[in-house]
Amino acid sequence: MNMKHKRLEQWVKEWAEWCQPDAVHWCDGSEEENQRLLDLMVKSGAAIKLNESKRPGCYYFQSDPSDVARVEDRTFICTSNKEDAGPTNNWMAPDEMKRILKEAFRGCVKGRTMYVIPFSMGPLGSPISHIGVELTDSPYVVVNMRIMTRMGKAVLDLLGSDGEFVPCVHSVGAPLQPGQKDAKWPCAPIEKKYISHFPETNEIWSYGSGYGGNALLGKKCFALRIASNMARRDGWLAEHMLIMGITNPRGVKKYIAAAFPSACGKTNLAMMIPTLPGWKVECVGDDIAWMKFGKDGQLYAINPEAGFFGVAPYTSMDTNPNAMLSCRANTIFTNTALTPDGDIWWEGIGYDAPEGTITWTNEKYSKESGKPGAHPNARFTAPASQCPVIDKDWENPGGVPISAFLFGGRRPSTVPLVYEAFDWKHGVFIGSVMGSEVTAAAIGLKAGVRRDPFAMLPFCGYNMADYFAHWLRIEQLAPDKTKLPRIFNVNWFRKDSNGKFIWPGYGENIRVLKWIFERITGQADAISTPIGYLPKPEDIDTSGLKTTPDQMKELLSVDNSLWKAELELIDEHYTKFGNRLPQALKEERNKLAQRLQA
Ligand code: OXD
Ligand code: MN
Repeated sequence: MNMKHKRLEQWVKEWAEWCQPDAVHWCDGSEEENQRLLDLMVKSGAAIKLNESKRPGCYYFQSDPSDVARVEDRTFICTSNKEDAGPTNNWMAPDEMKRILKEAFRGCVKGRTMYVIPFSMGPLGSPISHIGVELTDSPYVVVNMRIMTRMGKAVLDLLGSDGEFVPCVHSVGAPLQPGQKDAKWPCAPIEKKYISHFPETNEIWSYGSGYGGNALLGKKCFALRIASNMARRDGWLAEHMLIMGITNPRGVKKYIAAAFPSACGKTNLAMMIPTLPGWKVECVGDDIAWMKFGKDGQLYAINPEAGFFGVAPYTSMDTNPNAMLSCRANTIFTNTALTPDGDIWWEGIGYDAPEGTITWTNEKYSKESGKPGAHPNARFTAPASQCPVIDKDWENPGGVPISAFLFGGRRPSTVPLVYEAFDWKHGVFIGSVMGSEVTAAAIGLKAGVRRDPFAMLPFCGYNMADYFAHWLRIEQLAPDKTKLPRIFNVNWFRKDSNGKFIWPGYGENIRVLKWIFERITGQADAISTPIGYLPKPEDIDTSGLKTTPDQMKELLSVDNSLWKAELELIDEHYTKFGNRLPQALKEERNKLAQRLQA
């Protein structure tokens, strides 16, 4: 490849000398290159090509059982001062981390190829996009990055001779001795894994894992942890948010962005099929939003990604047909089960596993054994362009104008189906105290309500209290405050006294989105409560729903005594941030306390 960018060339050369790969390959992003790598992995036994008539262009991988998810306790924010990483991040000083990792990276690509992946987060050349270059010794990472980002020669061309890029270094941490047979899924043991971010110099060094967000460095590492720092410095927003377009029966369209913690159905909401006649939902992105103010004073969002890295289990033609259709071809499946006729299967796919299905741990599947066929964090990597409801502007370099932010989580009690913030500061308060019920023992978390501010707990690349301050500052930075997105909180997960979900969710969520849409277009009333503006039960369109008026009342109830208990939990959460917590949020907390008292 004709290298014009001397700084990039020098950086690659230095790392190649250090890691000692057998070869260095600059990825051009072509179809031939992609096919060659996939064929290579099939040949080595790392991948299985799925049945071409059932899943054209699809491949199947099983990871090492020790390498199945993001590893939050091995994820580090390395700033000179510990305080700058804040109480919610693991911290190590940059020098110390680099010393450890330099040692780990020495010779770690022996026996392998080092791939150089130039990639763009966001449409090529968009003023909201940014470029990264990932070095990796994993061909699995290359083929995934080709789906999840725009990558290859076009990005190098765009970089020209001295364009800015975020350097991302990745190794699975499993050098091969001469003649040594490779593992099916090479990786390092958990205590040797380091997912490290250096926000002061915009660098990412990731060692030891080949899975998802640990290894596809454009996603959580760059687009959230590093980008949140860039956004703070330069006055924009890098958020863990889906972006969707909603069109009403009269053809009026509004875009909203929504933050939910992992495992709350973001992908389902982003591409849902609305049940109300005449309403349309289109998807711009299902995980991350980068937003900047436009010349007209509105906030514009792009999806920095080009694909979906979706959780497979419980995705079905019932729960999310558009996701199922997105992964019908040209998709990589990781840690699902494999059927004898070369298709994939997972729990909740909507039909039983055929006889002879193989589990993600490569054993014969039997329902009776109690062992799952697919790992709970099994994934599909699918091109966003294959989504049947992808928005026509999903690659618009100017982004789409955002009219509302939604926050939410799994809250079996206390938090009503929907409410609106009184104003921006109150909205930031709501985002800062977001929480979600955690049941996912699979990812090693304690059960109970986990506070996950703005759904950014594992993804904010700096002190979370400073991040709150940044959100507050956005109001000052807004060229026109009246054009700031309105802020709402939703909760699809309220349970009744029998522990059953009250709200049907999925496509029925359009009924809540309709109220939100009508609030932002000035068509819907609201009642003022201590926690914010709520719809009256009759303001939510329940035509054709089984949900009873009493259930609607329950879904929209605000119980002051429960909220007083919530305040205590909020105080506990806020205490972590000490005096770095913005004064404006303390005031919001006190105002809520007063309203609950009144
Ligand atoms: C994800 C996550 O994979 O949030 O998107 O964990
Ligand atoms: Mn996510």
